[in-house]
Amino acid sequence: MNIQFDPTNLSADMVGEHGLTRSEIKDHSAKAIDARKGFQKLSDSGKIGFPGLPLESKTAKDILKFAGEVGGSYETVCVVGIGGSALGAWAIDNALRGPHPVQPAFSRKNPRLVILDNIDPSFVEGALDSMDPKKTLAVVIAKSGATAETVGTFLMVRDWLGEKLGRKASQRIVAVTSAGKGDLATLAAREKYRTFEIPANVGGRFSVLSPVGMVPAALIGIDIRKILKGAARMTETCWAERLADNIALRAALYQWLIWNRKKKPIQVAFPYSSRLWGTAFWFRQLWAESLGKAKLRTGEVVNVGQTPVAALGATDQHSQVQLYIEGPNDKAFTFWAVQKHGNPGRIPKTKLKLEAFDYLAGQDLAKLIDAEQRATAAALTAAGRPNSTFTLEKVDEEHLGAFFQLLEFQTAFVGEMLGIDAFDQPGVEAGKKFTFGLMGRAGFESYKERFDSYEKRRASVG
Ligand code: PA5
Repeated sequence: MNIQFDPTNLSADMVGEHGLTRSEIKDHSAKAIDARKGFQKLSDSGKIGFPGLPLESKTAKDILKFAGEVGGSYETVCVVGIGGSALGAWAIDNALRGPHPVQPAFSRKNPRLVILDNIDPSFVEGALDSMDPKKTLAVVIAKSGATAETVGTFLMVRDWLGEKLGRKASQRIVAVTSAGKGDLATLAAREKYRTFEIPANVGGRFSVLSPVGMVPAALIGIDIRKILKGAARMTETCWAERLADNIALRAALYQWLIWNRKKKPIQVAFPYSSRLWGTAFWFRQLWAESLGKAKLRTGEVVNVGQTPVAALGATDQHSQVQLYIEGPNDKAFTFWAVQKHGNPGRIPKTKLKLEAFDYLAGQDLAKLIDAEQRATAAALTAAGRPNSTFTLEKVDEEHLGAFFQLLEFQTAFVGEMLGIDAFDQPGVEAGKKFTFGLMGRAGFESYKERFDSYEKRRASVG
């Protein structure tokens, strides 16, 4: 397994005043070292559990046993979840089985994964119409057991299964939720769903290596042991004390510096691999929800955050790069490059005596996408736009597991450097409460009242 981080193009030597000087990096190294120590305390105290997930071998065994028992009895796995309860499964499926339109034909051996992570009625109805309840296994995922989008959609899926399967429907439902807590856990016990637990100390966006990501992955036939193996190896690296040995800590230091010292309020995660597109969206949530916070741990109001943007190479060279090179210099770019793409994508040798065609004859797409990534990095650098690159040797189970863990550690370290709690999400919770109020859930009447007064204010202004 090989993942590298190259920060050269974040340096002042490469991008001038928008880059970091050697002394800036040296002067802040101690801050990064302290952040690692601070995070280790949190992890050792048991407050934060994601670092230990790759070593949860009992959970992995239980998931694999269950997947072995039910395997072959369904053609579709239908995940119902949102945010951290959905993005990991999508990232894994996208990375390891390929972008959706080009995945191999679905069958009982290679089940289709449908993720109901939005409540757009036409999307949900369309998805239900496209599946056969007799050949579907539903996996409902919610740590709180109460998220309105998940509950509303799950009630439809449960009913849809019940109509065709009657009382047997509950055998086709798996619940992934907090142990003995929340209404989903209560319903799962009542209706005897097979249930997997989300540890209390693992938050949604840090849960991909828990049953949240591993249950759907195993059910679509992915070798979760390899994902966890890669993640476990990376975890060791992420605990290394020396900055030079710790890729997540080095990346955290550079990201924190470029964001805070060079005023880059936006970070573009720029994978040059369609397989990493889902992971870029998973990362977007991780970075935004973890690091976008009103207050420091001390209580001081700071309204801190760096807006993560996902861009896809080479596609977005023809959509976003004009802005990136000539627009405001307010972004830090993080390329995600891949060394080996599996299939090189050989371009036929045939020459057509056409100048714009013939130079490509006999070359391959792997070389082209690599050249385009390096060319875009060079163009950004020439324009004084700071950029760095993570390079993955390949996109397989081990590299993906390691990359998830690297990005989670990096986020946790940056949270420590900022002095915020990277593991709560009061903004998300507030949105959930307003939704409960508006939809008439008991106990949330005050949110409905606040909403009504907001509407009145709007009416008086408009
Ligand atoms: O990271 C988080 O905590 C959130 O994005 C949650 O994953 C999201 O709100 C879904 O919550 P739940 O799993 O309780 O349905």
